[in-house]
Amino acid sequence: MAYSPYVLPEIYEVAFSFRDYGLAVDFLQEAARKAGLRHVRSMVELGCGPGQYCREFARRRVKSYGVDLSPEMVAYTRRKCAEEKLDCTTLEEDFRQFKLPHPVDLAVCMMATFGYLLSNDDILAHFDSVADNLVDQGIYIAELPHPRDVFDSSPDERNFIWDIEKDGLKVHTEWGIDRTFDPITEVDSETVKMTYEKDGRTETVAGPDHIRNVGYGLIRALIRLSNRFEIAAAYGDINVNQPFDNSKKAWRMILVLRKIT
Ligand SMILES: C[S@@+](CC[C@H](N)C(=O)[O-])C[C@H]1O[C@@H](n2cnc3c(N)ncnc32)[C@H](O)[C@@H]1O
Repeated sequence: MAYSPYVLPEIYEVAFSFRDYGLAVDFLQEAARKAGLRHVRSMVELGCGPGQYCREFARRRVKSYGVDLSPEMVAYTRRKCAEEKLDCTTLEEDFRQFKLPHPVDLAVCMMATFGYLLSNDDILAHFDSVADNLVDQGIYIAELPHPRDVFDSSPDERNFIWDIEKDGLKVHTEWGIDRTFDPITEVDSETVKMTYEKDGRTETVAGPDHIRNVGYGLIRALIRLSNRFEIAAAYGDINVNQPFDNSKKAWRMILVLRKIT
């Protein structure tokens, strides 16, 4: 049976536990402050998955929301927030068209989640929806792969294989195997395979995934066309001291967008 990688939140959370979410949220708060937001009092994590960012913001007393299309991810994040009594609300909605109960100061879309916007129309609808859910001068921070990884590599080089163990759960991930790239749509079609071992049992799940490759020129053009955001800053790592450039240390494209009012 084919699985989406997003039906197993617990496995996803362990597989991506290599990232230090505390440090990443320090970075997001600092980047938002430098872009003019004095305090982040409310935020939304778009494509929240198991909610590592919205949960961490809520621990810091920021009213948080998590938006995700996957019912499994939403239920898992909701349960985790309830366990920790966090002020975080999860919504099962599409980030191309969602509605929060109140506008927030900050929106974030992390890892490679932006790539699920598979066309220019998806990206423009997303920008409209994010802007509609932000306060005046609100900030949107989106993390994308560095364009070097998109234009300077073959589809085969864009797969990632790693092992990780946490809380007695061992996970082997093969993200992006059997990848084919369609140069017309700029979409990679690939397989995500996860093998996990728990209580002496080993299971493998695998399923298809589709990700759009977005370069800096295209994203700048779409930001301008949307007329909803301006670029306040761009970083090459989860670090406000690392500018977005073509040096080796810059390995991500992290855009800090300010809502135009
Ligand atoms: C790579 S995970 C990111 C999880 C987490 N935010 C992180 O940074 O690790 C991408 C998430 O985006 C969700 N997603 C994909 N397309 C979506 C859409 N159109 N609207 C809302 N969520 C979506 C998936 O269900 C998945 O949970």
